[in-house]
Amino acid sequence: MTNKTVTITDNVTGKSADFTIRDSVHGPSVVEIGSLYKEFGYFTYDPAFTSTASCQSKITFIDGEKGILLHRGYPIAQLAERSSFLEVVYLLIHRVLPMKESLEDFKRNISKHMLLNQGILNFFNGFHYDAHPMAMLTAVVGSLSAFYHDRIDISDAFHREQIASRIVAKMVSIAAAAFKHMMGHPIVYPDSKLSYSGNLLNMMFSMPTEPYEINPVAEKALDQLFILHADHEQNASTSTVRMAGSTGTNPFAAIAAGCAALWGPAHGGANEAVINMLDEIGSVDNIAKYVEKAKNKDDPFRLMGFGHRVYKSYDPRAVIIRKTCHDVLEALGVDDPKLELAMRLEEIALQDEYFIERNLYPNVDFYSGLIYKALNIPSSFFTVLFAIGRAPGWIAQWMEMIADPDQRIARPRQTYRGPEMRDYVEEFQRGSK
Ligand code: CMC
Repeated sequence: MTNKTVTITDNVTGKSADFTIRDSVHGPSVVEIGSLYKEFGYFTYDPAFTSTASCQSKITFIDGEKGILLHRGYPIAQLAERSSFLEVVYLLIHRVLPMKESLEDFKRNISKHMLLNQGILNFFNGFHYDAHPMAMLTAVVGSLSAFYHDRIDISDAFHREQIASRIVAKMVSIAAAAFKHMMGHPIVYPDSKLSYSGNLLNMMFSMPTEPYEINPVAEKALDQLFILHADHEQNASTSTVRMAGSTGTNPFAAIAAGCAALWGPAHGGANEAVINMLDEIGSVDNIAKYVEKAKNKDDPFRLMGFGHRVYKSYDPRAVIIRKTCHDVLEALGVDDPKLELAMRLEEIALQDEYFIERNLYPNVDFYSGLIYKALNIPSSFFTVLFAIGRAPGWIAQWMEMIADPDQRIARPRQTYRGPEMRDYVEEFQRGSK
């Protein structure tokens, strides 16, 4: 095989150097520019990382032009239709689809770890009743590091697998406890007889005073939504987990950093923002006005749930969620005028030159909130559900990074644009300038 290279020539000094091109299995090849600084004394400048691969990974592949998303090679539509969330979690963490017995063992292990130390539940007493659930989730997930620190060895593969199971299991219990705290209701403990999403529903909605029956439509919908959120290669929250984890910090603390990054409206917070936006738009008659606002650069308003850094065609997750949204609302007999509003908004935006030119399509967050709403889940809780779904992706990426022999602390550089070096000025000599 011939060695493929890119030659860079510095037109100032005339110096040239070759840089190796490394092929990817799918997607663009990469130019290895690690020695650029040594060769030329330059850094690369790529704010927001539009052309930068920060790592090599074998977990997830996205082709944003064609709308393809693969986990360990399997297309997302096949996983969403034929797999289950815990099977996908197994796939992400253990790299292969499990045999029946391995999956049963895995499920039992997750079930066992769902129980939270009582001490963890005490943290919730410190939160005000109206604390945002993402604030509670971030804080309490981070606090797991106080319970699991001295005895974990991140260089041990078995320990890493145990950490992964604990994260996936405890996310759902912490999320449900945050929900109960919001509602002012007593905590409900996990039940090993229930499925993963069945447990979440039971811990959120059952009350000691009356029997609660899990609705299979809701259980299945949540399971599928979790699959659709399970991983998305080097997005902002995953990159945050990898960056924090690259220092060798406690993995629960790194996952809490991921929760914090996810919360923002440009990322996982968009599902909550979509419902708030639909509330603000109010009726089909106002759509044109809001589409104009979204196009106006002087107006901060954007169409939430629209656009994506990587997808330049329809987000393949949105295709599935759109259909599930219709199915769930119909099965539950929910007639939500917001669905009609969302569909008209999508239709109008997709015919608009501004959105066509910029390849802006609905993303994963556009319809998910409508499903959560139909399940009686308040909008402030939507991003918590995204976090539950994304947790296996975060932890699988963390595991891959720790096991990578090339792994070193992530440390980007910068182009400094501040004041030139100058002498300290005594207070009495400082002018008003
Ligand atoms: N509404 C109106 N205009 C938009 C939108 C939007 N939602 N998204 C992008 N644009 C415009 C943007 O103004 C820019 O226009 P121009 O070229 O004239 O300056 C062009 O499209 C390119 O956008 P960008 O901001 O440079 O794209 P980005 O890759 O930096 O941002 C994004 C991607 C997802 C943050 C952005 O599309 C956005 O803010 N969308 C709304 C929030 C949202 O739905 N986020 C969820 C993303 S999917 C789930 C997840 O990853 O968490």
